[in-house]
Amino acid sequence: MVLLSSKIATHFSSQENAVLYPGDCTDLLRELPDHSVQLVVTSPPYNIGKEYEKKTSLQAYLEEQEKVIAECVRVLAPQGSLCWQVGNFVDNGAIVPLDSVLYPIFVQHGLQMRNRIIWHFEHGLHCSRRFSGRYETIIWFTKSSDYVFNLDPVRVPQKYPGKKYFKGPKAGQYSCNPLGKNPGDLWMIPNVKHNHVEKTIHPCQFPVELVERLVLSLTNKGDWVLDPYVGVGTSIIAAVRHNRKGMGAETVPKYLKVAEERIHLEFAGCLKSRPMNKPVYDPVTIRKTNSINESGGELFDPEEVCFQQPLL
Ligand SMILES: C[S@@+](CC[C@H](N)C(=O)[O-])C[C@H]1O[C@@H](n2cnc3c(N)ncnc32)[C@H](O)[C@@H]1O
Repeated sequence: MVLLSSKIATHFSSQENAVLYPGDCTDLLRELPDHSVQLVVTSPPYNIGKEYEKKTSLQAYLEEQEKVIAECVRVLAPQGSLCWQVGNFVDNGAIVPLDSVLYPIFVQHGLQMRNRIIWHFEHGLHCSRRFSGRYETIIWFTKSSDYVFNLDPVRVPQKYPGKKYFKGPKAGQYSCNPLGKNPGDLWMIPNVKHNHVEKTIHPCQFPVELVERLVLSLTNKGDWVLDPYVGVGTSIIAAVRHNRKGMGAETVPKYLKVAEERIHLEFAGCLKSRPMNKPVYDPVTIRKTNSINESGGELFDPEEVCFQQPLL
């Protein structure tokens, strides 16, 4: 096992393992050499008036995004990947899926799309004039057709593990990969709300396990992972957890402070987070399980109960 130094630098140097840049991401990007980053993964502001952004026109927002994307493409390694995690821009109740308007920008910069991953979660605002939004997307692009993709570390359990061929030349052999199956492009991962174990003061952090899956599949040990809008440091945490190097920029001092604390806890092995591939709490299964559990004990994780729907 490679143990990384637990220092957090504020400026990029290839010798560092973790960089938390206190300022605008375009300034951090300027410090980075061409082709130095294996994975860019981020959830940018959506221009919807959150506490950390000033809402502007969609056109002005896209122009700002274009500048950052151009720099991200410059620093991306030839076998590298870029993952932009976005939801909707909302104007007067009308929605614009941000992936649809950002897609042409990535393509104009020569990137090739590999997946549009649907991230499904169960908690959020309850809408009264449209169906409540319960997914966002991760659009994954590569710089070339020769790119890093490690499937084995992110395989998930088969529906019928241990299934074998019944007859024919392969009779008795496994009919599915014993290491598990491809996780597909629909990811059901709880979002960080209320009593989620990772919740901080940030209104929109993404869960560590979402980024871990991308880090493990799209990078190798020792590679750099960059999040231009790093918030409370989630992408850096996911990177260093798996012996990659993580860096990101953040403009809001209170988020930087939390990011620093969380990264230090991660280096010390003490950061609480929801484990990768933990099954999502399902009230129906739990009710059935509890009804046959003679002790009457509850078998679910109480940390997750608060943001689940009440039992019917
Ligand atoms: C959607 S949040 C990302 C949260 C992050 N994924 C996490 O898990 O904590 C976007 C973040 O970008 C920051 N931000 C906005 N404009 C920025 C800029 N120009 N440079 C760096 N950070 C910026 C905001 O303060 C906010 O924390």
